[in-house]
This record gives sequence, structure tokens and C-alpha cells, in this order.
Amino acid sequence: MNTVLENIKKRRSIRKYKEMQIEQEKIEAIIEAGLYAPSGHNAQPWHFTVLQNKEIIDQISAGTKEALKDCETPIFRRMARNESFHILYDAPTVIVVSGKKEGAYSMKADLGAATQNMLLAAESLGVSTCWIGLVVEYFKGEEKEKRNEEMGVPEGYEVQYAVTLGYSSLEGSPKPHARKENTVNYIK
Ligand SMILES: Cc1cc2nc3c(=O)[nH]c(=O)nc-3n(C[C@H](O)[C@H](O)[C@H](O)COP(=O)(O)O)c2cc1C
Repeated sequence: MNTVLENIKKRRSIRKYKEMQIEQEKIEAIIEAGLYAPSGHNAQPWHFTVLQNKEIIDQISAGTKEALKDCETPIFRRMARNESFHILYDAPTVIVVSGKKEGAYSMKADLGAATQNMLLAAESLGVSTCWIGLVVEYFKGEEKEKRNEEMGVPEGYEVQYAVTLGYSSLEGSPKPHARKENTVNYIK
């Protein structure tokens, strides 16, 4: 199997990281992979914030939990009320992914393509990741403007996802999930 296919099949969401930081050249290669994603009308409607400040990473986790603690979804409510749960899994690096709200033909799909490119690039470099959707909650609400500004999110953009990155502290690599059946048909 070629290495692209191998990395696609090997990648798993990892939620336990070592403290050691990822090398700068790996971060740059991962970001570059995001920048090379396809986008509708070549809009490239993305912005990436690379966060490596533990205090700010912890603050985002705490603020997201605060926003979720009374939400309607029981699993999110439980996570938010669990004192030891960290929304960003104490990762040493987090990439916050924002997208241009107006004018982008298919912003969420474009950001999805960029995010998956980054997950696969990281996998190929031995860096573990987890795609995080819950962080959007931190960037809504009363403090929205201040929080977006602190992240350097450009005017007219909004945060959609984050990616946690680091070296896995799990013993061994988790096996891929079983795939659902009957999700493909051919017409010839
Ligand atoms: C759009 C999106 C949002 C996600 N948000 C979260 C999240 O907030 N927290 C989390 O732990 N995992 C999150 N995940 C990871 C999924 O839970 C994970 O991809 C799924 O369980 C399949 O497992 P795998 O990635 O190991 O194959 C998200 C994945 C996607 C694609």
C-alpha cells in the first residue's frame, strides 16, 4: 500500500499526549498541508492560529466547559462538569481553524478538507492529533469579540474547529474503528 493510503487508514483520534513540544518544522509542514487543500472557487477561506501557550490552551478548555455545563446534550454536559476533563486534552500544540463567513462558496467543506489534510500530514510525521469541534462554544456568547481578537482571528472570520497535536502517550497505537457496511454502491 502507498504511504498516503497507509496514513489514511492508520490515523486515529488521540486524546493523551506527552508534554514534549512538536518540532517547529513539523508544525510548518502540517500547516502547509492545510494550505494546500482544495477549496470551492479556490477561495481558500481559512485562517490558522497555532497556539502553544499552556495558559491560553487551559483557558479555552475551561471557557468551553463553562459554555457547555448546562447544554441540552447529556454527554457534553457530563464532560463539561467533569473537573479532570480537558477539552483540548492538554495537548502542547493546538491549531484553531477559522473560516471566512461571507462570500465563501463552501467554507465548512473547505475547512474540513484543510483540517483533514493537516491530520494526515501529522500522521505521516509521527504526530498524533484529534479534531475538536466543541471549541466553537468558546468563541460564541458575550465575550466573542474579545476571544476572537485574542486568537488573531481576522475580521469577518469565525472559529469552526481546532486540532490538538502532540506525541501520543498511549501505549501502542489504537486499531482503526470497524467501518459501517453498505455505505457504497456502484452503477456501471
Ligand atoms: C467535525 C468533527 C468534530 C469533532 N469534535 C470532537 C471533539 O470536540 N472532541 C473529541 O474528542 N473528538 C472530536 N472529534 C473526533 C471524533 O470523535 C472521531 O474522529 C471519531 O470518533 C472517529 O474516531 P477516529 O478519529 O479515531 O477514527 C471530531 C471529529 C470531527 C470530524
